[in-house]
Amino acid sequence: MSTDAKKVYIRSYGCQMNEYDAAKMADLLHAAGGYEETADPEQADLVLLNTCSIREKAAHKVFSDLGRLRALKDKGTLIGVGGCVASQEGAAIVERAPYVDLVFGPQTLHRLPQMIEARRALGQPQVDIRFPEIEKFDHLPPARVVGPTAFVSIMEGCSKYCSYCVVPYTRGDEVSRPLDDVLAEVAGLAARGVREVTLLGQNVNAWRGTADGDDGDGDAADFALLLECAAALPGIERIRYTTSHPNEFSQRLIDVYARLPKLVNHLHLPVQHGSDRVLAAMKRGYTVLQYKSIVRRLRALRPGLSLSTDFIVGFPGETEADHEASLRLIDEIGFDSSFSFVFSPRPGTPAANLPDDTPQAVKLQRLQQLQARIEANAQRISAARVGTVQRVLVEGPARRPGADGPELMGRTECNRIVNFAGPAELVGRMVDLAISEALPHSLRGELREPALAA
Ligand code: SAH
Ligand code: SF4
Ligand code: F3S
Repeated sequence: MSTDAKKVYIRSYGCQMNEYDAAKMADLLHAAGGYEETADPEQADLVLLNTCSIREKAAHKVFSDLGRLRALKDKGTLIGVGGCVASQEGAAIVERAPYVDLVFGPQTLHRLPQMIEARRALGQPQVDIRFPEIEKFDHLPPARVVGPTAFVSIMEGCSKYCSYCVVPYTRGDEVSRPLDDVLAEVAGLAARGVREVTLLGQNVNAWRGTADGDDGDGDAADFALLLECAAALPGIERIRYTTSHPNEFSQRLIDVYARLPKLVNHLHLPVQHGSDRVLAAMKRGYTVLQYKSIVRRLRALRPGLSLSTDFIVGFPGETEADHEASLRLIDEIGFDSSFSFVFSPRPGTPAANLPDDTPQAVKLQRLQQLQARIEANAQRISAARVGTVQRVLVEGPARRPGADGPELMGRTECNRIVNFAGPAELVGRMVDLAISEALPHSLRGELREPALAA
């Protein structure tokens, strides 16, 4: 690696798909231009802000960050804005911040090398935020593997159009990657030591593919089939996916839980609200009863299944009774964790125009109440793990050393971090740990013999 390699600084603001895109930008710029990543924008030849517009706060942050980066222009640093704000705002970003050189969307990030070249050759900012179907994946180099876990995008976009959400506008409609492409990527990762894959998409259970030998007239492959094929690949020990949607959570998908032990005992299934009235206004397309029915059928097959979710608090018109329905649902389901936020009106979405008379202070109070309720559940679930044996995929060194020197870190099926003392050779392996202590954000465990012989 030469020391005068060009450097790129990439900052991500959003969801796992946004982070996945950032990793792809780094891979692409490395393959096409020899760029190395740096954690310091001052050192970078190219600074990329991979933006998110899901809530107002995330979107605003971009412009304040851009203002600060402006000083770098004196050194000739190129500045690019990608992601979901770029997709929504397009050329307006350059109008507002004329020192921005590149504006690209989640579906055009593979064109970055050409855009950089065009910027240099033409001396003009380059803007390309189209949705050229799934072309992106055909232009990405193979992923660089870091550790035993990896993400694999199986689809792009979203066609659900929930009334509050920008994603269908920023990422376009749902487009699935072909089955063979996904499986080839997973197999390639497994061959390079990956043991756990997380299949990514805004609605992975809406994934549809054409199976081998299918001329397009036959039954399209569904997500249940994709999971079975991925689980059959040698080397893959664990499969996660995110995000799935309560709609299209088919009985076929539920049944897969009985057959595939590699499918983790944890599911992130965003519910958004506990009141049918609010769910309807959100255009989620299911009722609380339907959500509970999915969970009941899953837990009939997997009694210990842990569930995490997303909640939106303070949707326009939400009453105290609606809010209490969300609190009740938390206890009924026993959610293990949740991403929960106050509703943020987003330009261009139908919900942004709904009359909303709940004061922000009340909304914040409801949010705190909801988060405290989930946190109490999470603590109870963690405490109940003490004394059990948990299978953990060892990911690497622990962030902090233990009392007797460096430690290792792994994750349980339910995505809880466990720190424990053990030899570095265990990284990338599955080990059984006796859980000895539950801390607020992690567990402690002890290695059970004979871990190294496993
Ligand atoms: N596709 C997933 C989630 C995508 S966005 C799903 O449908 O469940 C991630 C989360 O951001 C959502 O689940 C929702 O809880 C939250 N979110 C989306 N738009 C929002 C808005 N306008 N205000 C507040 N939270 C929002
Ligand atoms: Fe947004 Fe709804 Fe699509 Fe999720 S399903 S990304 S919340 S529109
Ligand atoms: Fe944000 Fe776009 Fe993801 S809006 S949450 S980065 S899909």
